[in-house]
Amino acid sequence: MEHIDAVFKSIDEHQEEFIDLLRESVAIRSVSADPARRGDCIHMSEWARDQLRTLGVETSLWDLGKQKLSSGEELPLPPAVFGVYGRDKSKKTLLIYGHLDVQPAEKEDGWNTDPFELTEIDGKLFGRGSTDDKGPVIAWIAVLKVLKKLGIELPINIKFVLECMEESSSEGLDKGLEDNIDKISDVTYSCISDNYWLGRNKPCLTYGLRGICYYFVEISCARQDLHSGINGGSVPEALNDLMWIMSQLVTVDGQILIPGIAELVAPLTKEEDDLYDKIDFCVDTFKNETGSHGLIADNKKNLLMNRWRYPSLSLHGVEGAFSQPGAKTVIPAKVTGKFSLRIVPHMTPEATDKLVTSYLDSLWAKRKSPNTFKVTSGHGGMPWVADFRDSNFSAGSRAIERVYGMTPDFTREGGSIPVTLTIQELTKSPVMLLPIGASDDMAHSQNEKINRENFVKGMKVLAAYLFELAA
Ligand code: BES
Ligand code: MN
Ligand code: MN
Repeated sequence: MEHIDAVFKSIDEHQEEFIDLLRESVAIRSVSADPARRGDCIHMSEWARDQLRTLGVETSLWDLGKQKLSSGEELPLPPAVFGVYGRDKSKKTLLIYGHLDVQPAEKEDGWNTDPFELTEIDGKLFGRGSTDDKGPVIAWIAVLKVLKKLGIELPINIKFVLECMEESSSEGLDKGLEDNIDKISDVTYSCISDNYWLGRNKPCLTYGLRGICYYFVEISCARQDLHSGINGGSVPEALNDLMWIMSQLVTVDGQILIPGIAELVAPLTKEEDDLYDKIDFCVDTFKNETGSHGLIADNKKNLLMNRWRYPSLSLHGVEGAFSQPGAKTVIPAKVTGKFSLRIVPHMTPEATDKLVTSYLDSLWAKRKSPNTFKVTSGHGGMPWVADFRDSNFSAGSRAIERVYGMTPDFTREGGSIPVTLTIQELTKSPVMLLPIGASDDMAHSQNEKINRENFVKGMKVLAAYLFELAA
């Protein structure tokens, strides 16, 4: 720890340089969901590889094969970036995971600035990926840069796994890790910085994520779109069927109507129940930040439990339905409804798929429609819950205390990072989530940002964590 003050000082002094690096990465439009941007995703991986290589990290790109689109077309998956920094057998080894792909963004969606041009306003750095997850990845790179500049020996060996498909379910990565298990089997700890504080002012460390199961319900009523004047009243319509089904998935207060789901959920223990009391979280602030008109639970404990430890079901959209402005009078021939469940212990994608499919089938049988009906499930992700009383978390906690002068809350998250459980199982190492961004960063939304202060202090926390882990 003798070096830490010099490290902090150097981080402060070089912050513009690191913001420029973030700016450079944000400018690469690595939208993994957009086939047209696949080249940018591949470029993004190569860019990250080059950054690490310049620092002296031994790097390689893992070919993850191809992605099959629903159209049947095949696209190359962006390679994962693997890096090794230090091979000192007397030291522990930390695996750092992060992702460099982002959600789609267009200025027209309602951004105040160009989403791919990092723009600072009042200490906030706006740009797609600024907080999810380019900012945290650049923060790690910045820490290595500072240690190198100061000639400080790394207290711990580091391995990097960076990918460019996380926002598309980390396609290919599980297999990539399995194929390279010999390269990660010496990992002692893992750390992922890819979530957010629970509020705006207090740091946290995170020990749980929900998993996800995604579904497509395709209904078709005719060979092609029909005229609702000519055919209305003569043809059972696909969208009517779909709306009927989609309206029977979840109640207004968020209760999932699929039989059997509730029975899969791990019972609440007294010990877990008590954990929520200590957490610093304000329901009203949350409501304001979300900008929502109401909340499903009105007290802290129930609201957090609904976000973290119970499943939820969300409807996402209908492909093929008319969605432009104006009043088109079409009867869509084929529509695909999309929804997902966030899953929690002890749910698995397999058990969830079974319940969802049989419920949808039973609804369809009840509907007695002549139309064609097909349910498919997308890639699922497992939930993850860890023990926050281990040495990884205590190192993280001491690092936060050193930088922020307060002990973090221990939180879970409602979101998903599909590879978390895979990393834990393959490396047999404890995983910790160490967020640096704040609750109002608006990941995935318009005007995503990371505060300059969170970014810079985040680097200090990550640096201190390396030394605390080794201590
Ligand atoms: N960084 C998020 C994960 C996250 C979201 C953690 C919210 C904590 C709170 C990640 O980039 C993400 O968006 N994950 C997707 C995964 C999905 C595409 C399989 C998600 O949660 O929707
Ligand atoms: Mn992310
Ligand atoms: Mn994300």
